[in-house]
Amino acid sequence: MTLILGIETSCDETAAAVVEDGMWQHSNIIASQIDLHAQYGGVFPEVAARAHVEVIGVVVEAALDEARLTLNDIDAIAVTQGPGLVTSLLVGMNYAKGLALATRKPLLGINHLEGHIYSLWVNAESPIEFPVINLIVSGGHTELLLMTGHGAYEKLGGTIDDAAGEAFDKVGRLLELPYPGGPSIQKAAEGGNPTAYDFPRALIDGSYDFSFSGLKTAVMRAVRPSQKGKKRKAGEESLIEGEIRAGLSIRDVAASFQTAVVDVLVTKTIQAAREYGATEILMSGGVSANKLLREQMQVSSPVPVRYPVFQLCTDNAAMIATAGYYRYEGGQRDDLALDVRPTWYLDELSPINS
Ligand code: KG4
Ligand code: ZN
Repeated sequence: MTLILGIETSCDETAAAVVEDGMWQHSNIIASQIDLHAQYGGVFPEVAARAHVEVIGVVVEAALDEARLTLNDIDAIAVTQGPGLVTSLLVGMNYAKGLALATRKPLLGINHLEGHIYSLWVNAESPIEFPVINLIVSGGHTELLLMTGHGAYEKLGGTIDDAAGEAFDKVGRLLELPYPGGPSIQKAAEGGNPTAYDFPRALIDGSYDFSFSGLKTAVMRAVRPSQKGKKRKAGEESLIEGEIRAGLSIRDVAASFQTAVVDVLVTKTIQAAREYGATEILMSGGVSANKLLREQMQVSSPVPVRYPVFQLCTDNAAMIATAGYYRYEGGQRDDLALDVRPTWYLDELSPINS
């Protein structure tokens, strides 16, 4: 039996978890900063880092308590090394190093995106056979990958501008809905007409890359009052100030926007699954919590589709502990000189020998 303690602080959740044999979740503690960041409508790195420092000790203790274990029982400490916000990553990394030093347990630096992928292995109901297609859709990433074995990834495409979750968050702000935008838009879209607006589906054919910035601009045009006679600054800030066209149906805009994003994600993922003969489609990341995305992927896919339970869609440490298990079994051991990697692509990882 191998017990891994996972620690995750790459963005705005402080999380710790204990997972046995890359599969059985003993605990999964998440201290969310959503309420803290909601007042600013987004994540401020310094604010996030300070909040991580305040709670990390308590969160790790709670993860051990809930698992009814002590640090002595743990075989290795897996921590998110990147990608993410450097100031946030450093809090988890330094804490994990302190634990590793004090307990002489092995330290493992884990890629956050590999963590999202391994969220599908946590409490999996049946074994996952390769090759699979991974769609990672979160606030920071939109990645389409072929996975041919543990730790073996080939990137097929990614976003060339905004991530899918970022598009939800920006459009949420445009529509003056509560942060984060994803769940708010999903809720606002209920009962809305998804064909009320014909928003663009960018790069829908011939490429596995994604682009969501044109869609965001199209939503802005639909939402804003007439621009005639008004001077507006170019650029991002002018997109997010208030001012919504009178009589606008927020529901219809939300439903049409959500459908446009889901169409693109589903079309490309299924095309990739067919082209590469995937046995399954695995979706992960915050946006994989989206109900319409789950439904549409399932009805359109020729192969089974898996997505994590809700608590494992958004950032958590059970996924880091699970990826950590496979890396540990593959022989990875890091030393205390390990540094964070704010930018770190999945295809830079080496496959796990098993
Ligand atoms: O994976 P995650 O917690 O953070 C990153 O690693 O980036 O994902 C957060 C993102 C946010 O952009 C949020 O708006 C989005 O996931 N999200 C959703 C839903 N729930 C969360 N997007 C669409 N529909 C949802 N139900
Ligand atoms: Zn994430």
